[in-house]
Amino acid sequence: MLSSSSASLVTHFSPRLVAWQREYGRHDLPWQNTRDAYRIWLSEIMLQQTQVATVMPYYARFLARFPDVEALAAAPLDDVMALWAGLGYYSRARNLHRCAQAVVEQHGGTFPESVEALTQLPGIGRSTAAAIASFAFGARATILDGNVKRVLTRVFGVEGFPGEKRVENALWLLAESLLPAASAPADVSAYTQGLMDLGATLCVRGKPDCGRCPFAGDCVAHASGRQRELPASKPKKAVPTRRTWMLVLRDGDTVMLEKRPPSGIWGGLWSLPEAADEVALAERAQAFGAQAGVVALGSLSHTFTHFKLDIEPRMAELDRFAGLHPELADEATAWVALRDLDAYGVPAPVRKLLDGLQGTLL
Ligand code: ADE
Repeated sequence: MLSSSSASLVTHFSPRLVAWQREYGRHDLPWQNTRDAYRIWLSEIMLQQTQVATVMPYYARFLARFPDVEALAAAPLDDVMALWAGLGYYSRARNLHRCAQAVVEQHGGTFPESVEALTQLPGIGRSTAAAIASFAFGARATILDGNVKRVLTRVFGVEGFPGEKRVENALWLLAESLLPAASAPADVSAYTQGLMDLGATLCVRGKPDCGRCPFAGDCVAHASGRQRELPASKPKKAVPTRRTWMLVLRDGDTVMLEKRPPSGIWGGLWSLPEAADEVALAERAQAFGAQAGVVALGSLSHTFTHFKLDIEPRMAELDRFAGLHPELADEATAWVALRDLDAYGVPAPVRKLLDGLQGTLL
């Protein structure tokens, strides 16, 4: 729901943006000042996720080699890929070639004019179709790329991550409602360009230049100082927490390490013996020949990509009179002096724990 001031801005938005674009926007980009759908399409595909300055030389080389859609459709894919090399997102180049062939084979070499027909072509999504339709054919269709999402979420205070379907749908509806009136069709391409220019030159991600923005007086983000918070970033998934008990079994300055299985977390590293709870840990300690009395050390936690591990360390001293310690002969077990830990691959949080023990006594 828009606030009442935002609702009144809806009617003023397009005339103000068009006036701003005409005075302060970009007018001399190589793909402007033409209605040639081939050139406009080519530029829009190249400009997806790619900066204007990067695109410029590629655009010029492409047009020199493939001056029209027939030339591109007839070229071997390898030639297209070679000219695209360095621009990134290579599925764009494969789709570009397929799209050129579809335009030649299905549309007699002329790009269709409607957004619906354009979106049927390879590599052309709804926003790119609207850009082509508005620039080449003056269609009253709205774009909604990342830059435009940023402008709209800030100006109108749209909450939520724009990558989320519910938010994206709301932004499409808002963008549609902002289009220049049907009675002002001449404004459509300046309007589309204005959205792009505002997002690329003033309403940028890091440090927007609100002082020069035509919407500063109405902008929800500006009024509340929330430019950094809008658009909302992707919600972080809550990571599950696991808990483990680790045994620091000491014999003076020497501790017992166990080699972990080759796969799984810390696969193949030397770590402390573990147990799933306090009781199981005490039992393991006893089985290893520890003296009675297990001391709790400060807990620590470690974050992996998919979960957080809370570690409960417990310390016990080896009872040298307890008799046999069959694990001492096991090749998956080592008694290591704390000062010699460098020779062993030890997980970072375990190493931190053990380093904290140096010089302490039980
Ligand atoms: N980004 C996407 N399309 C663009 C265009 N036509 N001009 C400038 N930047 C753009």
